[in-house]
Amino acid sequence: MVGSGGREHALALRLQADDGVAELVMAPGNPGMVPLGRCVDVAVDDVDGLVALAVAERVDLVVVGPEVPLVAGLVDALAAGGIAAFGPDARAARLEGSKAFAKDVMDAAGVPTAGWVATSSRDAAIAALDRFAAPGVPWVIKADGLAAGKGVVVTTDRAEAEAAVDAALVARRFGDAGATLVIEEFLDGPERSLFAVCDGEDAVLLAPAQDHKRAFDGDEGPNTGGMGAFCPVEGFALGEPHVEALRETVILPVLRELARRGTPFRGLLYAGIVDTAAGPKVLEYNVRFGDPETQVVLPRLTSSLVDLLWASAVGSPASGDGVASVPVRFSADAAVTVVLASAGYPETSSRGDVIDGVEDADALEGVHVAHAGTARDADGRLVTAGGRVLAVTALGADVAQARERAYGGVTRIRFAGAQHRSDIGHEGRA
Ligand code: AMP
Ligand code: GLY
Repeated sequence: MVGSGGREHALALRLQADDGVAELVMAPGNPGMVPLGRCVDVAVDDVDGLVALAVAERVDLVVVGPEVPLVAGLVDALAAGGIAAFGPDARAARLEGSKAFAKDVMDAAGVPTAGWVATSSRDAAIAALDRFAAPGVPWVIKADGLAAGKGVVVTTDRAEAEAAVDAALVARRFGDAGATLVIEEFLDGPERSLFAVCDGEDAVLLAPAQDHKRAFDGDEGPNTGGMGAFCPVEGFALGEPHVEALRETVILPVLRELARRGTPFRGLLYAGIVDTAAGPKVLEYNVRFGDPETQVVLPRLTSSLVDLLWASAVGSPASGDGVASVPVRFSADAAVTVVLASAGYPETSSRGDVIDGVEDADALEGVHVAHAGTARDADGRLVTAGGRVLAVTALGADVAQARERAYGGVTRIRFAGAQHRSDIGHEGRA
């Protein structure tokens, strides 16, 4: 398991519970993951170090959590070393690594998405702002490359929109990642996360979830990596005809287009979908599990996770062992996760604040606390070490009960500057 966030903690927890997983090695993991296997201190962007570790440990399957090593070619390097991995190779990972590439693929595949312009010229970018201008409708300006979730500006303030263009193209705030901008039409409606496990040709959907992206209650404040999530989503659950149809409209066409280009996609294809008045449209694709959505999707999965990831990594429909050959079942439970972030998040984050109460929260019925940005200090105390610190997840008979349980856990946990949203699980714009 490559990664150290709440997503990887949830994945590791689920994998460790699967028959067929004899041992888990996590790089680098986090303090919460220590009981699940062995944590080895290799960073997620150290491709050579990760390959060397996988070879030395003779692992059967590497599960890659975050996008950075995927875009950097970890799966390609592992393949060269004879190691199977869950996740796309670098060329297929461009779907997340370049927003302009993703838009081009979507257009070629006929996937419904926001109208867009990609440019590295300031004049063309300003002209694109004029093209998408409409009263009361925000401008959407995105750095083309990976920018740790900070490369997107959504604003109704023209000066702020132009400042975003200048910051990327003139001041080069994101370096090469922002040398090209994508300026696109604003999509209005609730935002949902659809996960599809893919084997290069075929795809299996997991239960859709909803993330809460804004920092503050009522969907106010800056965008974050995600402040909480819930699953299932009313009217957007697995089995609903329009959700099943999304496999045909937003997942399979992309797999076909990438295969046509000679870069078939294996791994997790995550479609960020906005349910607009004109029907569902794709906001973006990610090439890995979402964080914190994974914390609410996986606890509901009652069938094997490792079998599915294995089929994605090495199976194919032609040989009868592709993803469609693996049974996928979800419980009727609902799950809610609430992120506890450190002071200053998302602009900054604070480190070294002592965290109390995690065990108390974990002991509550239906509650599990995933670690995200935590560390042990010199005295062995659990301390903050990042923006998103913990994700408190609870299962319940419905979203209301899961939410109540999750917030019961949140109230047990204390650290200086802790912040969280108090309205996770409401059905609004995420
Ligand atoms: P992204 O990095 O592309 O996921 O964008 C971050 C967030 O900005 C998304 O989760 C949305 O909440 C918002 N956003 C991005 N693109 C659009 C769009 N075209 N219309 C509306 N909101 C958007
Ligand atoms: N929760 C949003 C993401 O994982 O990109």
